[in-house]
Amino acid sequence: MKIALVCGTRPNFVKIAPLMRAIRKHNASSEGTPIVPLLVHTGQHYDYQMSRIFFEDLELPEQDIHLGVGSGTHAEQTSRIMIEFEKVLFQEVPNLVVVVGDVNSTLAAALAAAKLQVPVAHVEAGLRSFDRTMPEEINRVLTDAISDYLFTPSSDADDNLKKEGVLQEKIYLVGDIMADSLLHNKVKAEASKALFRLGLERGNYTLLTMHRPSNVDEKGNLLKISRALKEVSQRITIVFPVHPRTRQNIEGFGLSSFFENKRILLIEPLGYLDFLKLMIDCKFVMTDSGGIQEETTVLGIPCLTLRNTTERPVTVSQGTNTLVWNDTERIVAEALKILDGKGKKGNCPELWDGKTAERIVNVLVQSGR
Ligand code: UD1
Repeated sequence: MKIALVCGTRPNFVKIAPLMRAIRKHNASSEGTPIVPLLVHTGQHYDYQMSRIFFEDLELPEQDIHLGVGSGTHAEQTSRIMIEFEKVLFQEVPNLVVVVGDVNSTLAAALAAAKLQVPVAHVEAGLRSFDRTMPEEINRVLTDAISDYLFTPSSDADDNLKKEGVLQEKIYLVGDIMADSLLHNKVKAEASKALFRLGLERGNYTLLTMHRPSNVDEKGNLLKISRALKEVSQRITIVFPVHPRTRQNIEGFGLSSFFENKRILLIEPLGYLDFLKLMIDCKFVMTDSGGIQEETTVLGIPCLTLRNTTERPVTVSQGTNTLVWNDTERIVAEALKILDGKGKKGNCPELWDGKTAERIVNVLVQSGR
């Protein structure tokens, strides 16, 4: 049974690593058909800090095939991945293609496979923000529509799929795969020297990430968030590993002055273990990432999400997440609430227990793919 596993961006590596581990474990157990994994990196992310470091931190094996597509417009990137991945499908003839998350690499690989009638498994299926201005929402809806196995992290995702007419027998509630990586690497991350290197003290800083086009590609929105950050930084140090897209825009829009402040540490993007260490020890997180909303819920760290919708509602209803969008006053008010000891306390959702990848591999083995 040959399975092609496709990854291309930072969050993909975090989701693929537990699957590779679960496949190794399955093969070592000598029960059932062995799986031959074929790890394909599309090259959507390519800088050391955006790609290679994740392979090292997560102990991912070297990819078998690198498509080298790089950056571009959505159509350019998606089509280049399709063209290159189709060649891999012809040459390698996998029995199944596994895609994860909601990035352009996810949709492109799924589409190339489905057109050749290669079955597709989508890990993190069913998530919906119901906001079609997000490129990720389009990727999610389309990938789910052409997948044969839909592995969901929470029951709200099952409900979304059923409403879209997906047959129950294709849907498998398996839990959150990012929690697998987090729980597996937590002890290792705790040994990271990131706090020491940055001169930080446990609980005395907030961690910020921001890269959504709606926040960073539009000057007015970036300005509203920048104003809030300046105010929050008067009460607590902000550590801000800056995504390349965001750095280009802060400079391009002439907003650097908001960040020239000793209480805002602008640093390069971090690897998985250093970032996890900073998350474990911070007072709270501000982010527009999808995965970080889940990770903070697993860790029980308050999270202010710089968006007005989330495709992960369980992190709000059960977890530690609060949506604050780009609303300057709201961001500041919620941050102050946390600093006054009134941060949200949450629970870890069911099945976010570190065993999601094993459940996925079991399903695939039992169905003979
Ligand atoms: C992509 C995903 C997003 C995900 C994010 C994780 C899509 C539509 N978006 O967004 O869902 O949350 O990855 O980080 O797939 N760049 C570099 N070095 C790199 C990669 C990118 O400098 O290694 C720069 C390039 O200028 C590029 C820009 O960042 O044009 C955006 O990269 P891209 O992969 O298109 O989108 P992300 O914003 O990273």
